[in-house]
Amino acid sequence: MKKKATIVSFEGIDGCGKSTQAKQFVRYLKSKGFKTLFFKEPGTTALGKKLRKILLAKKQDILPLSELFLYLAARNELVTKKIKPCLNKKVILVFDRFIDSTIAYQGYGRGISLNLIENMHSVILNGIIPDITFVIDAPASELRKVIGKDADRLEKSIKFQEMVRRGYLKIAENEPKRVKIIKRGSINETFQSIQKLWQEFFE
Ligand code: TMP
Repeated sequence: MKKKATIVSFEGIDGCGKSTQAKQFVRYLKSKGFKTLFFKEPGTTALGKKLRKILLAKKQDILPLSELFLYLAARNELVTKKIKPCLNKKVILVFDRFIDSTIAYQGYGRGISLNLIENMHSVILNGIIPDITFVIDAPASELRKVIGKDADRLEKSIKFQEMVRRGYLKIAENEPKRVKIIKRGSINETFQSIQKLWQEFFE
């Protein structure tokens, strides 16, 4: 089966504004007449929604490996039930978080073997990876103000978020063609950088 769909993912540490950018990007694509589908990870499937609640609950005590399995369970549901059926359609699939979140958070952040994550991903994904990934980048200490004390979010220390951030930078270094680092500016500035890179990629 030849893949016709284009996969775009938005990534970054907590509070970087990637969800705002992903939603704006979907509106932009729709205004240009592209058929577009939006997915949030975890949270798009029925099981994904339940797992999101468990994973993001306050005072959660989950072992890193258990956490990995829960994120991957959500991904397996999403990929098998929602993504694979539309890969041969001319559609742009926009992800608010995808595989790189697991590599950055569970791999670089929690210290789980990158090989293990890669092997499990290869079973789940069967070669499905984003065509282009935008990582919204800013120092964790800056974003602390944005995250505030929101109890429902996974609150992690600045140190942890910096480790995750370094993970994203490393992923981009390893895969410069796919993964684009966008320095976080105002909402408009950030979006303009994304639009420019998207146009270069798409043309
Ligand atoms: P968000 O999507 O609202 O930004 O929050 C999701 C949280 O889950 C965020 O802290 C990152 C975390 N996460 C992982 O740790 N691993 C993953 O694979 C995914 C998709 C998210």
